[in-house]
Amino acid sequence: RRVCLIDTDPGTDDAVALWLALASPELDVRLVTVAGGNVGLSHTLRNARAIVGLTGRAVPVVAGAEGPLLGAFRSETQVHGADGLAGVALPEGPPATPGIAADAIRALLRAEERVTLIGIGPATNLALALATEPALVDRVEEIALMTGAWAEGNITPSAEFNAWSDPESLAMLLECGRPVTLATLELTAQALVTPDRIAALRAAGGGACLDAAARIMGSVPPSRRFGHRGHPLHDPCAVAWLLDPTLFTHRDVHVHVECAGVARGRTVVDRWERSGQAPNARLLETLDAGRFFALLTERLAALP
Ligand code: BDR
Ligand code: CA
Repeated sequence: RRVCLIDTDPGTDDAVALWLALASPELDVRLVTVAGGNVGLSHTLRNARAIVGLTGRAVPVVAGAEGPLLGAFRSETQVHGADGLAGVALPEGPPATPGIAADAIRALLRAEERVTLIGIGPATNLALALATEPALVDRVEEIALMTGAWAEGNITPSAEFNAWSDPESLAMLLECGRPVTLATLELTAQALVTPDRIAALRAAGGGACLDAAARIMGSVPPSRRFGHRGHPLHDPCAVAWLLDPTLFTHRDVHVHVECAGVARGRTVVDRWERSGQAPNARLLETLDAGRFFALLTERLAALP
């Protein structure tokens, strides 16, 4: 079992990712840290507490950055609704654990030999933790991120939302020297939520978590703007990589994060080895969507 933490900004797809991780015996989730992102920190924190609380698990949920290291905070309420969960109300969760995300991340890294970092929001909390005690980088087993795009963005023409939200922090993670795996927009576009997939999820039975996941997934409209016939279930892809790597094909690439100008937040992905720079990331390229949704369904059905 991998000891891991999840840094998140729930977020409709973050909710599903958290439930998938908490339902999976491969992962020993010790900590959930929260940033502002899809919606402001007060909402993402309340949502994270509720999502974890619904599982009945006593995983600490700790508040972190309200916004990026540099630049202005901007939320993404068009996709996730004003409350971050597309209007699906969850019962109030247990209180947040006092403290600050970066401190809690460092404490876990100090306590454990090997910790996998799962990042499914802006990278601020993870970068702050490693920047404030760089020696702890050696304790990081792997960093699995939903972030970036190799072609076009979804928040600007150039940038994916998480990368755009705090590009300096993402650049730090990519340069930290530990293995980084990226689920980009091109990968997550293969994990489309469609009515038949929601129906299959519901048919699995399950309890309050599966019901909430199905309601949330059913409340996000198809992202027709991007030519999709459903909406991409971005964040669970980064979790699924740690559960079953055979769902994916991948290649090692160099990724540069552009931090200036109109392309701020763009991940320049060297898929064809044109930069002359050594790979610093593993890029997930294709997803077996049928098996991915089957795994998600099986796991969510096992939750309370
Ligand atoms: C990413 O941004 C958020 O809207 C999602 O939760 C996901 O983490 C996709 O660009
Ligand atoms: Ca997210």
